[in-house]
Amino acid sequence: MTDILIYGAGSIGSFLAYLLSGSARNSTGEVGVKNVALLGREGHMRAIRDRGLHVDLGEKTEILRFEHCFSSLDDLKASDFCPDVVFVCVKTHSLSALCQELQESGLLEVRLKRSLFILLMNGMGNREVFLQSDLDPARLQEGITSFGVVLAGEGEIELKGRGKTVLQDGMGGEEKEFLAERFSEKGFEIDFSPDFRRQQYQKLLVNAVINPITALTRHQNGIILSPALKCTVERVVTEAVAVATAEGLAIQEEAAVELVFSVAEKTAANTSSMLQDVLRGRRTEIEAINGYLVRQAEKHGIAVPVNEALFEMVKSISGLQTG
Ligand SMILES: NC(=O)c1ccc[n+]([C@@H]2O[C@H](COP(=O)([O-])OP(=O)(O)OC[C@H]3O[C@@H](n4cnc5c(N)ncnc54)[C@H](OP(=O)(O)O)[C@@H]3O)[C@@H](O)[C@H]2O)c1
Repeated sequence: MTDILIYGAGSIGSFLAYLLSGSARNSTGEVGVKNVALLGREGHMRAIRDRGLHVDLGEKTEILRFEHCFSSLDDLKASDFCPDVVFVCVKTHSLSALCQELQESGLLEVRLKRSLFILLMNGMGNREVFLQSDLDPARLQEGITSFGVVLAGEGEIELKGRGKTVLQDGMGGEEKEFLAERFSEKGFEIDFSPDFRRQQYQKLLVNAVINPITALTRHQNGIILSPALKCTVERVVTEAVAVATAEGLAIQEEAAVELVFSVAEKTAANTSSMLQDVLRGRRTEIEAINGYLVRQAEKHGIAVPVNEALFEMVKSISGLQTG
């Protein structure tokens, strides 16, 4: 059995905990979870301790009771939980502070000395931020996922869309087998890809179009298909592909444009995470998406004016209560 810590148990992290939980139930039909621990914000964790984690899957709701549910690294220190794998599932702008608290806790040299860390987050550049914690790079992997989950309330999550999860292919056979088995039991797909960086870049590219445009126009994803935006969409992609090429990644421009339109079509009725953040006056992840492209482009001396304009416009409204 692999012991897993979910660090930053919000929407995606709590859902991942459900996917990785077993199937042993107590007398009231609730799932008892021993091998997956949650570490998240106090309100959500308290509700889970009191009432269990409620996972709304559409056709049914599962209730999970966790043996380990931490509100701080001190809680983890005080427990005997020793994870083999730590999934980090915070928003990109929370990563730097998380690294600092992790480093200051001293846990990396003791309890988490042998743990493998996996950043399951959107955007790029997260690995570089996380390595500021002085973690051995060999113990750090990344992952992407395209399932959609929202926090419906404290202790409650709702599955909004199914999708594949792809992890970097670099972990031990036992852990891989465990993850594959648990995902498959729950009817979800997981892949361990030797070509991970290219897939991560493709996701970045889709996000670099859909997220800022929906956030600025305040429309659902289907707006990307508007003929008036065709030229803008194509220019964002052309610029991103030029950066990818300079980074040594082979991405075909035509295929990339097709991918963006096909994702926009399939998710036409969805409200992107960036639009949700803007509407709630929260910070967006623009720095790790178009911001990443702008920084890499600068490094390679490539002009990316459309990405730069989207980046600056979203940054100007990021974290503002826009009504
Ligand atoms: N939700 C989705 O459907 C989805 C799909 C694909 C990819 N993703 C990506 O997955 C990542 C996580 O997204 P999410 O939607 O799960 O975000 P989320 O719901 O905001 O969950 C992250 C949780 O971690 C907490 N947190 C932040 N720093 C922490 C720390 N140091 N210690 C403990 N808890 C901490 C946050 O609290 P605060 O809010 O107080 O900071 C929040 O409750 C993002 O990069 C996102 O783009 C999400």
